[in-house]
Amino acid sequence: MSEFILEMDQISKSFTGVKALNNVNFKVKKGEIHCLVGENGAGKSTLMKVLSGVYPYGTYEGNIIFDGEIKQFSKINDSVDAGIAIIYQELALFPDLSVYENLFVGNEVQHKGVVDWNKTIVESRNVLEKVNLSVNPETLIKDLGVGKQQLIEIAKALSKEVKLLILDEPTAALNEDDSENLLNLLRELKKQGITSIMISHKLKEVIAIADSATILRDGNTVCTLAAAKGEINENTIIKNMVGREINNIYPKRENQAIGDTILEVSNWSAYDSQLGKRILRDVNFHVKQGEIIGIAGLMGAGRTELAQSIFGNPKNYKLQGELQIDGKPRKFKHTSEAIKAGIAYVTEDRKGDGLFLTQNIKNNISVGNLKEISASGVINENEEIKVANDYKKDLTIKASSIEQLVGNLSGGNQQKVSLGKWLFVKPKLLILDEPTRGIDVGAKFEIYTIMNSLIAEGMSIIMISSELGEVLGMSDRIYVMAEGEIKGELSAEEADQEKIMQLATQ
Ligand SMILES: Nc1ncnc2c1ncn2[C@@H]1O[C@H](COP(=O)(O)OP(=O)(O)OP(=O)(O)O)[C@@H](O)[C@H]1O
Ligand SMILES: [Mg+2]
Repeated sequence: MSEFILEMDQISKSFTGVKALNNVNFKVKKGEIHCLVGENGAGKSTLMKVLSGVYPYGTYEGNIIFDGEIKQFSKINDSVDAGIAIIYQELALFPDLSVYENLFVGNEVQHKGVVDWNKTIVESRNVLEKVNLSVNPETLIKDLGVGKQQLIEIAKALSKEVKLLILDEPTAALNEDDSENLLNLLRELKKQGITSIMISHKLKEVIAIADSATILRDGNTVCTLAAAKGEINENTIIKNMVGREINNIYPKRENQAIGDTILEVSNWSAYDSQLGKRILRDVNFHVKQGEIIGIAGLMGAGRTELAQSIFGNPKNYKLQGELQIDGKPRKFKHTSEAIKAGIAYVTEDRKGDGLFLTQNIKNNISVGNLKEISASGVINENEEIKVANDYKKDLTIKASSIEQLVGNLSGGNQQKVSLGKWLFVKPKLLILDEPTRGIDVGAKFEIYTIMNSLIAEGMSIIMISSELGEVLGMSDRIYVMAEGEIKGELSAEEADQEKIMQLATQ
């Protein structure tokens, strides 16, 4: 028997106008944890979709040998039957159904043709145990945090016989604790002989967990590194991924001129009538022109709620307190009023409310500022094309053209389109909510560089981020939130990881 459980040999896959995979070779040893890394759009998710039968045999070229046999999956269920389970980049649970319904949907426990729900609930307890999750199976998915939802996805995969578990950016939306928890689970599954493939942009995790790491670039295999040979380290990965060295991922700002206070929020409280809960309490903070303000905190600390409450309050929280822009008190009844006042907000959930997935890149970028490219109410198409091409180039959005549908872009490139859309609105104050989630290191560096040039042009930025490195590396001042309150303010000089965590867990 071969030492490899999986051999993907000379795999090529094209979409109209894009060669996503070009003779990729990918071999995974039995029982190992193998990380798949590469820039946004490198082809990682596509390769895994070829493997799992999302793209059936006949729509790609090359051979797949799994568990000693040549496989030609014509549908997803064929790969499931072979023992391959894949958890996609975007979670696929039904939020309004319970945990047990989600676990067994499509795989119901039946008795004489009727679903046996009692047995299903008992079974779900067993399955949940496999991922060390103690939740009541009757809980609704939407009432669980993303960390737990991710474990439920894995539990669902493990409810069938699994030899190979594939996780596409499983920790992208998780906090440090939940991520650690998930990595430990992979280590445990490894002990049970389950092989895993994990796609991740978080190099620290890759270094911590990978036995092997394969790097893709532009649809080609660059190399496979082995932990046993000491090859899996940040420098080697970045160099092979990006094709150049990046010495300091957080670029320095030069000639920064900090001006007057442009946003001042005082005694700001918010009540969510739907949840019946106070979500922000007595928040006080300000932003000056030309500053990058970091807002740190754990998941659920109220950071996104704060951003939304400022950005025209789309969720209709009951607000108290005062908001001043350029020294003048303002009350926004709608996000459009906040936009007019010069605020833009790039959401953390690009699929949820950031982008029109069924529209192309061009339309997504221009939609927020059609005025700028119109004369007498008619859009100047040449101007629209030029603007979109400029952002595609500046943000290095990887796509065949600006006509490509945003829904077909890789995750990280969708994030860049979202950023482009709001930059074109030309705000005074840009609020970025988890701006580099799911973004590769090279592109992160580019986004930070763009942030710095926006600051140099006199813009101000509020950056909400769960990545402490980024908060520390990019902010002039940092506010730390917990339980809907600001627990402290730190200057760039005094801030460090420990101080932030201390305030965040107060
Ligand atoms: N359905 C599709 N139609 C057209 N092009 C596609 C489609 N799916 C993927 N692509 C293109 O194929 C390339 C590879 O995309 P893929 O999603 O595999 O990247 P990735 O490595 O997973 O990136 P990320 O890290 O951003 O998730 C990209 O250029 C993408 O735009
Ligand atoms: Mg992907």
